[in-house]
Amino acid sequence: MTLYQELATNFERLIQKGSLKVGDKMPSIRTVSKEYGVSINTVIQAYLVLESRSCIVSRPQAGFFVCEKVDLRLPVPQASNPSNNPKEQADDGLIGKVFRNFVNKEITQLSLSVPDESFFPVARLNKCLHKASQTLSSGGTGYDDIQGNFLLRKNVAKWSFTWAGNLGIDDLVSTSGAMHAISLAFMALTKPGDRIAVESPVYFGILQLAKNMGLKVIELPTHPVTGVDPDDVKARIGEIDICLLVSNFNNPLGSCMPEENKKAMVKLLGKHGIPLIENDLYGDVYFGPNRPKPCKAFDEEGMVLWCGSVSKTLAPGYRVGWMAPGKYLKDILKLKLFHSVSGTTLTQEAIGHFLETGRYEKHLAQMRKKLYANSLQFIRAISDYFPQGTKVSRPLGGFVLWVELEKGKDTGKFFDQALSQGISIAPGRMFTLQNQFYHCMRLNYGLPWSDGLDLQLKRLGQMLKQ
Ligand SMILES: Cc1ncc(COP(=O)(O)O)c(C=O)c1O
Repeated sequence: MTLYQELATNFERLIQKGSLKVGDKMPSIRTVSKEYGVSINTVIQAYLVLESRSCIVSRPQAGFFVCEKVDLRLPVPQASNPSNNPKEQADDGLIGKVFRNFVNKEITQLSLSVPDESFFPVARLNKCLHKASQTLSSGGTGYDDIQGNFLLRKNVAKWSFTWAGNLGIDDLVSTSGAMHAISLAFMALTKPGDRIAVESPVYFGILQLAKNMGLKVIELPTHPVTGVDPDDVKARIGEIDICLLVSNFNNPLGSCMPEENKKAMVKLLGKHGIPLIENDLYGDVYFGPNRPKPCKAFDEEGMVLWCGSVSKTLAPGYRVGWMAPGKYLKDILKLKLFHSVSGTTLTQEAIGHFLETGRYEKHLAQMRKKLYANSLQFIRAISDYFPQGTKVSRPLGGFVLWVELEKGKDTGKFFDQALSQGISIAPGRMFTLQNQFYHCMRLNYGLPWSDGLDLQLKRLGQMLKQ
């Protein structure tokens, strides 16, 4: 056996014994070279062997990570292919049914797109709430600034350095979560009958809100890795009045648009005077080396309304979000005053304090590590237990997987069967207004990994095989 093969075998044993676990970062090439007294080249060869055996995966600029050997066995779904002349799906109350058991702790909640509460820094947030009640005049019982809490806006503006943003405090408006920001954007920029282009599949809240406001939804082909292709938007540009993208880790696909595509998209939409609502609430939950930039980073004309919230990273129940509405700031402010005045004073201030302490980055780093490891565990379990022909996404951020079964399966019906076993899944057709994705489902891997969870996924697989 050559030196590099020996080294690879050594590491493989460490992985088998669990000394190096799924999701763990492999020691750096330089460290291994020093520790084992071998050349850098030998280590690189050994890591390439491990990669070819699917024991580890390389992530650009981040290094090598332990993965389950089976990761490569399951294919990734292809880009979606929504119809240009769709027949709308009949509303049979599926979304309401799935969310009826939203807070039931007896059920394994694979249907949600939110991390389990154990992922959130609850004790620290409590301290921040307490501090907020002490520092705010009248304990936070009063209205706050209409534009939003100053401490919150200051820190969100500061935090935008992570994506090379240069937001000022006055560029931001606080909202009651990201969906509130999107509602305000819809109200400010659209009228009934306007045509809105979105990803397909996409978060059902966006689709239902657009429908509710009388907008005509244009669903765009979306790739599970790279999201929407600017060329597909270009092809239909004359039909589009406004565009909404979840550019970083779209829910449910997990896609993240490459930077070049984001730039091209901003340029294309800007050229045609089409505003872009960018929903970036998953952008901080990335597994790669850096936070992916949002489209907003390339917006010179103020045509991108960048929206975010702490719902996926800290506290969905606080209802704290924000937007940087670019040149639409005044319109948004006017609407906010009419619709919700200033938002919740106490929770905005508490999040402002949390961000100010610098704990956010530490918290995110821990959460990302757990989530990435979980994603690998889920993909491994799906590969082990689900029927042949299953495809699954490989998100590099967020906490949901998009699973595509063989055509003919109906995950809407399967939902009832799974629920009877105490497991809730999100059927694929919730994420479209068209008649598609019947054989798909979204699974949340933001739950603490355990043998019990592995067993639940096994049960799901057994039911799907029946
Ligand atoms: C894409 C997307 N937008 C918005 C929301 C809701 O965000 P918020 O709670 O901040 O309103 C969700 C929640 O799942 C989501 O996935």
